[in-house]
Amino acid sequence: MKYLNYAESCLEIEQVSIEHITQDHPTPFYCYSKKVLIENISDFFESVKILDPKVCYSLKANSNISLLKLLSSYGTGADVVSEGEFRKAMESGIKPSDIVFSGVGKTDEELTFAIKNNCFQINIESGSEILRVEKIANQMSKTQSIAIRLNPDVDSKTHEKITTGTKENKFGIPLHEALQIFKDKNKYKNVDLNGIAVHIGSDIKTLKPFLKTLKILKDFCEKIRSLGIELNTIDLGGGLSPHEREFDIKEFALATKKELGEFNAKFIFEPGRIISADAGILVTKIVSIKDSGAKKFIILDAGMNDLIRPALYDASHEILPIKESTKISKIPTEIVGPICESSDSFLKVDEFPDVSEGDYLVIMNAGAYGASMSSNYNIRPLAAELLIDKDRVKIIRKKQSFDELFHNEKEISN
Ligand SMILES: Cc1ncc(COP(=O)(O)O)c(C=O)c1O
Repeated sequence: MKYLNYAESCLEIEQVSIEHITQDHPTPFYCYSKKVLIENISDFFESVKILDPKVCYSLKANSNISLLKLLSSYGTGADVVSEGEFRKAMESGIKPSDIVFSGVGKTDEELTFAIKNNCFQINIESGSEILRVEKIANQMSKTQSIAIRLNPDVDSKTHEKITTGTKENKFGIPLHEALQIFKDKNKYKNVDLNGIAVHIGSDIKTLKPFLKTLKILKDFCEKIRSLGIELNTIDLGGGLSPHEREFDIKEFALATKKELGEFNAKFIFEPGRIISADAGILVTKIVSIKDSGAKKFIILDAGMNDLIRPALYDASHEILPIKESTKISKIPTEIVGPICESSDSFLKVDEFPDVSEGDYLVIMNAGAYGASMSSNYNIRPLAAELLIDKDRVKIIRKKQSFDELFHNEKEISN
């Protein structure tokens, strides 16, 4: 992570010592670097500028309101997948005219909310969903812009649990069915079918699946054009990996222009992980260290309820002590959380810096799909989130209290 360095053996984020932060804030907590977030969003805009796209940041990666306000001040709209995310985007000052509503199972209530609020585009995931949008828009005497999310049947070569673009996945509409929907375009009176969308997976490291998808989209767009239909939007989704990515995003943008530029549609991107992942860390304390005979366990006060990625899809997060240590313990070690599940495990290593109970560690690259996926499992309050801006620490989400946690159940039992 940029702007996370040891200064006199103590880890600093921007200009703030993490040890210093732990004196005021109980662990575990998330910390984000404002500077990294700004650089990531600026770099993304720069990389895709030849396409002059609409960039709709994907809230599911990290939907903290302060973070959304910051990103939207740099020109992002939002990609949302629920009424909750739609409301949070609006709460953050993002206009519905900059919101794309994706999601494989939108309810009538959610569609009604989006249409009522003049959503820029609803990405449709099934033939029956169009009929529901048509009916709801008709009841409101409105016309809703929609795009068809295509399932291109492309394997994005990422972890199977974050693969979304093959016919084994629940997402999108098969190409032949999507073409038929475009052929029937004039049947719809209250939807304006004028776009296509894809999202083939997340944390994708190679360009090949994207290139394959672009070719499929080109072929699809040509078929649409031969029906006399000109598309307004082509939404290319998200999925770009921030780590070990084997290509430059500019290459992807160039290939997009080459394959799809002739269709004169507005391009949309829905980046999530690439914007926020390496802007965040999870700070945690070692509760206990024990030896099972087979290995050493370092047990943290952060668990899979705070950061579920390793348990859910084998994500690997580097872990560093906040005090630099030159002494290495050459014992097989598993760094785990306190949750009553064996899958509550962050990292297995053959050696680790020599640390003690009470020491603090930092789990790296936790800014995407970290706080946004956290839960109250084992009745653990949601962790605080802090934004670091040079030498300042701002609380952007308070740690949840037990009162807040019990509130809805107490109302009922009293
Ligand atoms: C439809 C859609 N768009 C965008 C994204 C964001 O993906 P990423 O965070 O990999 O950029 C996702 C993530 O699952 C998604 O489902």
